[in-house]
Amino acid sequence: GLRKKEVNVLCLGLDNSGKTTIINQLKPSNHSNHLGPLSGEWKHASQTQTQEIVPTIGFNIERFKSSSLSFTVFDMSGQSRYRNLWEHCYKESHAIIFVIDSGDKLRMVVAKEELDTLLNHEDIRNRKMPVLFFANKMDLRDAMSSVRVSQLLSLENIKEKPWHICASDAIKGEGLQEGLDWLHEYMK
Ligand code: GTP
Ligand code: MG
Repeated sequence: GLRKKEVNVLCLGLDNSGKTTIINQLKPSNHSNHLGPLSGEWKHASQTQTQEIVPTIGFNIERFKSSSLSFTVFDMSGQSRYRNLWEHCYKESHAIIFVIDSGDKLRMVVAKEELDTLLNHEDIRNRKMPVLFFANKMDLRDAMSSVRVSQLLSLENIKEKPWHICASDAIKGEGLQEGLDWLHEYMK
């Protein structure tokens, strides 16, 4: 058959924001609440056991297929000591998923700093790659809205790239499909 287009997606954001939890939701072995082949038809390439989610060391690579695309997702560690690994993946990546902990008001300024550094990087700056933001942990009682998060991150200043923000609850899997469908449209 036809070969699927290969795309690399970089998953970034501070430690504890929920990156690995989001990616774990895409795995078919997560029967309790995985997204499954819904409208975006995201499928994991191989069966993987659901594991307890622990802080990522360095990075993990996951592969998913949709009807038209073959995705390689780089799930990077958000810990400050590993953030210098992010930039080594910029050149090869075609899209970015940036995850924010909507309940972490104290570190929103750190998230903004990391985002600004990312968007100003020479391997990212002048490219039209899509950026999907998840304002994650919307289930927390004191979570900020996605509108508030986008204000605090000054997302309206992103002119050269298509971007989209979704509120999400990665544990229940809510809000993820909308974002992934948006991203999928830009990658086809
Ligand atoms: P690093 O790998 O260290 O960069 O962190 P990460 O961004 O991959 O975060 P991870 O997925 O490991 O999640 C961190 C913690 O947040 C875990 O205890 C998750 O269960 C929890 N968590 C993730 N998403 C949500 C969410 O939507 N709501 C709530 N309440 N907790 C969440
Ligand atoms: Mg992780």
